[in-house]
Amino acid sequence: MIFRQLQEPDSCTYTYLLSCETTGKTVLIDPVLDTAERDLQLLDKMGLRLSYTLDTHIHADHLSGARRLRSLSSSQIVYPAVDELPCADIGVSEGSVFRVGTIEIHPLFTPGHTDHHHAYLVNNGTQQMLFSGDALLIEACGRTDFQSGDPATLYHSIHKKFFSLPDETLVYPCHDYEGRRISTIAQEKQRNPRLGKNRPLAEFVALMNALDLPYPRKIDFAVPGNQLCGQCPDEIPEKYRGPCDKDV
Ligand SMILES: [Fe+2]
Repeated sequence: MIFRQLQEPDSCTYTYLLSCETTGKTVLIDPVLDTAERDLQLLDKMGLRLSYTLDTHIHADHLSGARRLRSLSSSQIVYPAVDELPCADIGVSEGSVFRVGTIEIHPLFTPGHTDHHHAYLVNNGTQQMLFSGDALLIEACGRTDFQSGDPATLYHSIHKKFFSLPDETLVYPCHDYEGRRISTIAQEKQRNPRLGKNRPLAEFVALMNALDLPYPRKIDFAVPGNQLCGQCPDEIPEKYRGPCDKDV
């Protein structure tokens, strides 16, 4: 498997490139509109063809690159089936493997950050790789104070679906705001300040409910735009219009 971790700096989003060496089929997990052209240039340089985009959830902090990439490269848009997005070409669910050539992607239903959030588990032949979306971040986790978020639900998702994985499983989050790129299940079980060292549910819920985080600056246009797989809404503020002006 060919693998790259790409970054979109404005929203500190990580996009993951996974490509099957046998078939050349390639997927981008959580692509960002702002970097869609960059991603395609990279694929071109690597001699790869984009087959699919795969989102973990309806993002609130950036517009997905799914729609732009489909119009530029004929890739298919893949989302959790439970989102029931008319713009998606394929829906994925836990229990059904999504195949990209020989790569097997196992969706894990992990609500709590949003009610439809999915993470993706891949075995690259030697290692398990968890693309944890916004559920589990490095020494953090996704916020639970908007978009049908719920801290107790997130706690159970992380414990049941992630902390039950082998300790050496690699954790690749959707975001990191300090430039950290990778973790492991063992490290998060031990070091995560919100969930580590078996922090009890009640403490986690109290901690999440007391975070008092600022209102996400792009949420008002990102959520409706991402319900259309990353379409730029008309009412997008001028300072964020840049990537939309290239819309096709
Ligand atoms: Fe998110």
